[in-house]
Order: sequence, then structure tokens, then C-alpha cells
Amino acid sequence: MAQWHNGPMPNVSVRPMTDEEFEKFRSHTITEYAAVNVEHGHWSQEDSQQKSIEAIDKLLPSGLKTENTLLLTALNESGDSIGYLWVGLQRSSNPADGAWIYDIELYEEFRGKGYGRSLLAEAERLTKSHGVNKLGLNVFGSNKVARHLYESAGYQITSQQMSKELL
Ligand SMILES: CC(C)(COP(=O)(O)OP(=O)(O)OC[C@H]1O[C@@H](n2cnc3c(N)ncnc32)[C@H](O)[C@@H]1OP(=O)(O)O)[C@@H](O)C(=O)NCCC(=O)NCCS
Repeated sequence: MAQWHNGPMPNVSVRPMTDEEFEKFRSHTITEYAAVNVEHGHWSQEDSQQKSIEAIDKLLPSGLKTENTLLLTALNESGDSIGYLWVGLQRSSNPADGAWIYDIELYEEFRGKGYGRSLLAEAERLTKSHGVNKLGLNVFGSNKVARHLYESAGYQITSQQMSKELL
């Protein structure tokens, strides 16, 4: 388990993903998205991979060159690649919906050191610099670290699903 961070926010910079980084990101994201949908009972194991490919490719029809999309590699102070960020600057055809964080992820060894908070701040800065003043995201109720991060950074709940195991 990573140490919790409690010092000044570390510096994170971002740059566009390379083609090679994008390919790794895409296949990792497809696998993760399939697994999460199976785990939450939305998809069956058999067709989860195909459904995940379709969902990701629909959001990123031109890969790295997809319009209104930031696909970025995050770097720490030493220039190590520590994770990535995927922001859609126009979530829907309604500009009032603002931008959307589709993915923010740090590689395991870089978690819990304050980089996530810095990367989120960078996502907000970049979104504003593109003239968009609203940023949203989805988070699973079970993801306590991410929920804490977003809530403490000022994100408000806009919709919530609830469920109960009936034994
Ligand atoms: C979610 C994620 C991006 C957060 O980044 P991070 O660098 O680990 O988080 P930070 O170190 O910036 O910490 C953010 C807050 O969470 C707390 N936190 C971090 N790790 C924690 C842990 N293991 N348990 C409890 N709290 C934790 C920190 O204390 C901090 O809160 P504080 O400033 O009030 O003390 C990162 O953990 C991650 O990549 N997780 C896997 C992918 C994921 O779930 N992405 C989000 C999808 S919605």
C-alpha cells in the first residue's frame, strides 16, 4: 500500500502521448473497462472484450487525433512517466455539459504521493485554457481514494446510483 501524501503538492507536467504510449493505453483501458463492467454485472464475460473495444473506439474514432480530446502522458519532476490523463473537451453536443475526464490514472508505484491531486489540477487548468469552464467525471462508489480526491477538490455529485445485495 502506498504511503499517504501530506506535503506540498508535487509538480506534474503533461505532454501528448506518443503512438506507442497510446497503443498501450488503449489496450489497458479496453481490458480495464471490460473487467469493470463484468464486475458490476453490466456485461457478460464472453462479450465484454468486444463491447469494450466498441465503446472505446466510439469515443476515440481517430485515436490520438480524435477531435476535442486530450490524451496526455503525465511526468514527475524527474521526467519519469507516472501515468496518464484522458479528457474529452466536449462531452456532448450541448456545450453546457462541459468537458469530461474519461480517465485519470497513475501507475501503481506513483500513487498516494500527491501526484493525483496535481494531475487533476492540471486537467482543470488545461480544460479552462481551452475555454471550457465545467469538468465532470464518473467514479465508482467503491473507489474511496478517487472519491475523496474529487470531493476535496470541489467536485459535486450530479447523479448517483445505489444498490443493495438482497440476501
Ligand atoms: C485515483 C488516483 C488518480 C489518485 O491519485 P493519487 O496520486 O494516488 O492520490 P494523491 O496522492 O494525490 O491523494 C489524493 C487524496 O487521496 C488520499 N489518499 C491517497 N491514497 C490513499 C489511500 N490508499 N487510502 C486513503 N486515502 C488515500 C490522499 O491522502 C489525498 O487526500 P488528502 O490530500 O486529503 O490527504 C490514483 O490513486 C489512481 O491512479 N488510482 C487508480 C485509477 C483510478 O482509480 N482512477 C480514477 C478513476 S475515477
